[in-house]
Amino acid sequence: MTVKPGKLFINNEWVDAQSGKRFDLINPATEAKLTDVAEADKADVDVAVRAARRAFESGPWHTMSARDRGRIMMKAANLLDKYKDEFAELETLNNGKPIGETKNVDLPLSIQCLEYYAGLADKIHGDTIPVDGNFFNYTVREPAGVVGQIIPWNFPLLMAAWKLGPALSTGCTVVMKPAEQTPLTALRLAEVFQEAGLPAGVLNMLPGFGPTAGAAIARHPDVDKVAFTGSTEVGKIVMEMAAQTNLKRVSLELGGKAPNIIFADSDLDAAVNGIMRGIFFNQGEVCCAGSRLFVEEKIHDQLLSKLQASVEKLVVGNPLDPKTQMGAQVSEEQFRKILGYIETGKQQGAKVVTGGAPAANKGYFIKPTVFSNVKDEMRIAQEEIFGPVVCAMSFKDTDDLVKRANNTVYGLSAGIWTRDIGKAHRLARDIKAGTIWVNCYNCFDAASPFGGFKQSGFGRELGKYALELYTQVKSVWVALD
Ligand code: NAI
Ligand code: MG
Repeated sequence: MTVKPGKLFINNEWVDAQSGKRFDLINPATEAKLTDVAEADKADVDVAVRAARRAFESGPWHTMSARDRGRIMMKAANLLDKYKDEFAELETLNNGKPIGETKNVDLPLSIQCLEYYAGLADKIHGDTIPVDGNFFNYTVREPAGVVGQIIPWNFPLLMAAWKLGPALSTGCTVVMKPAEQTPLTALRLAEVFQEAGLPAGVLNMLPGFGPTAGAAIARHPDVDKVAFTGSTEVGKIVMEMAAQTNLKRVSLELGGKAPNIIFADSDLDAAVNGIMRGIFFNQGEVCCAGSRLFVEEKIHDQLLSKLQASVEKLVVGNPLDPKTQMGAQVSEEQFRKILGYIETGKQQGAKVVTGGAPAANKGYFIKPTVFSNVKDEMRIAQEEIFGPVVCAMSFKDTDDLVKRANNTVYGLSAGIWTRDIGKAHRLARDIKAGTIWVNCYNCFDAASPFGGFKQSGFGRELGKYALELYTQVKSVWVALD
């Protein structure tokens, strides 16, 4: 596939950056240049926000019938389906994830998400409220306005869909900044929306870097709301920038350090599959990755040897090969960061059961890695590695386990493996996380909410819950006499 150079998408036009700057994109599997794209900065963000403001205040988007808005979105979803093979390949080339996953996970979930919000457009409404006195009181859900959306590189297309679905469905207009590593599928998605008939200015797509283009969005006085997915570190900066300028509304979907808990009474083969899915899916570059593995002591050794045998069968390599199960990490920076954590783990006394090194001479491949003898306070057990590295620890007592599972600044997700239904529900209650998976892991559906407790962020994406992020409620009182 030849990959076209990219431009900025502003007001339904493809334009160069005002500075004329461009930057290179790398294929992480080969380390070769893939293409280059225009680099937006503050000046381009200003133009895009003006276009989005015009489209919001005087354009047809939020004033057209909600059903027509839904139709345009459904058309975009259908076009994404039509072009899905091209999108899957583009995503794999830019991100390094296996083509089997882009085809069977990223694309179907992205299409489903756009379909879901297309269908929701005409089902967003307020309430009538029985107040005291001779009044008629009702609420209206109005769109939040001009929305800034900053997304990461681990699921470039899917994160764009999660953000655009509810924002467009509610009638907002958008300035989006994809991650600098992976803007290609987001740009192609903008083209799809253009083809579907989205009015000018409703969606603006600006590849660029965080401290320039990203910060310009978060600081912009005429952006009404900013939605961010990425590191907790940058999430805090985004919130500060929002507070210091116009107090724009903020929603944050940040990091995680999820416990994946295996009880002795679980189906161990299923649990091993769930552990693998939890940590090696998408090369471990997943905010809800099951990176802290808690194993009940009496099955610890047995489970780890089963796990080791399965991990050593994983096919790591060329992401374009349909047989590949784990591809390349997204960038050299991420590759080095993960290898750094592996070194730290070794130095602090954890034991490498398998992996623990690069998997190829060229490209950012890392062997799927299992650590045992991990202590709760070690850095590899506390910090988000965002790579294919799982840290196994054993436990005896369930109360103590719950404390340890919650002993993290994060709270995005957790996995629980047991055949005891009472124990499963008790842990689902006691673990502080936004998503709990019982006898499964990394399950997603556009209808089910996703988001964090604690420093994993706030606000819920997906489902009807995401409407809270992109609407504001107006209460109207009418005197009846
Ligand atoms: P990052 O948080 O720096 O980048 C995410 C997005 O924020 C990108 O679009 C980036 O351009 C933008 N950004 C960066 N600095 C910004 C700023 N000052 N103002 C506004 N926007 C800004 O994440 P990075 O550096 O790519 O990865 C570092 C670590 O963050 C990873 O190793 C991982 O642990 C975590 N991470 C978590 C993600 C999640 O889904 N929760 C996604 C990506 C990274
Ligand atoms: Mg960063």
